[in-house]
Amino acid sequence: LHEGTPEPRAPVVTVMGHVDHGKTSLLDYIRKSHVASGEAGGITQHIGAYHVETGHGMISFLDTPGHAAFTAMRARGAKSTDIVILVVAADDGVMPQTEEAVQHAKAAGVPLIVAVNKMDKEGADPDRVKNELSAKDVISEEWGGDTQFINVSAHTGEGIDALLDAVLLQAELLELQAPRDVPAQGIVIESRLDKGRGSVASLLVQSGTLRQGDIVLAGLQYGRVRAMLDENGKPVSEAGPSIPVEILGLDGTPDAGDQFAVVESEKRAREVADFRQEKQRDNKLQRQQA
Ligand code: GTP
Ligand code: NA
Ligand code: MG
Repeated sequence: LHEGTPEPRAPVVTVMGHVDHGKTSLLDYIRKSHVASGEAGGITQHIGAYHVETGHGMISFLDTPGHAAFTAMRARGAKSTDIVILVVAADDGVMPQTEEAVQHAKAAGVPLIVAVNKMDKEGADPDRVKNELSAKDVISEEWGGDTQFINVSAHTGEGIDALLDAVLLQAELLELQAPRDVPAQGIVIESRLDKGRGSVASLLVQSGTLRQGDIVLAGLQYGRVRAMLDENGKPVSEAGPSIPVEILGLDGTPDAGDQFAVVESEKRAREVADFRQEKQRDNKLQRQQA
């Protein structure tokens, strides 16, 4: 196995929260305000993830829609996320999906940071949010707990830098590390068939470095990485730990949450993929007979 030399890596963050509390708005604001100059006009991709340079460090965001993806990945044994940002609208407070998100994060052992959003609105009551969440055992640092609460507005941008700093602080406590000097492995974020380009898969590299030309085994699929693009659609030749990329060249569409790994030869990849496909057929057959 490839051990490599552990090095610090960027945190991978998932945003969760109740419907309409502002998850997408928050991600959009962060993306637009932190995208490298010259690229802002060119955002056309949706690869389910992106990374930003904050000035204090890099952060990767998974923006696969919420709980379903998180749960699907967990069910497959993939740990996709280092930190959950829990978005709670300050004018609405804790709602059923807020509680669900808390439970998901706790079950996965992933620390939470609470973004109390919509602070620009009349009727915003951040203390009420603190109160309601403390009843769910999510207790603010100011109240003697260990959870950072940051007041933000995805409309005005208030508090967003503080939120990103909170993420980096939490990341420091987690001492996130991964080697770069080994063949890549990680998880599939999403994939689809494109008419012109064939299989297009978004991958999150979790350790090692993925390079164009590598042979990737992902779930039941495999192939040589023919092209690799970042979240702005720009070709890249390699991607290290915590970096999301889109790859072309797989022979099919792996599922979200499937693990991927670079293997030494196409022959080896084919053998394993064939074996897995056969096993899946057997399992299906057994289920039908049962
Ligand atoms: P779902 O994906 O449907 O669960 O919603 P969401 O959590 O992604 O919320 P979304 O970003 O779609 O925002 C819902 C509504 O709230 C939209 O009308 C936003 O414009 C509004 N909104 C989001 N953030 C803020 C904010 O900080 N202030 C104000 N005033 N409105 C906000
Ligand atoms: Na919405
Ligand atoms: Mg949304």
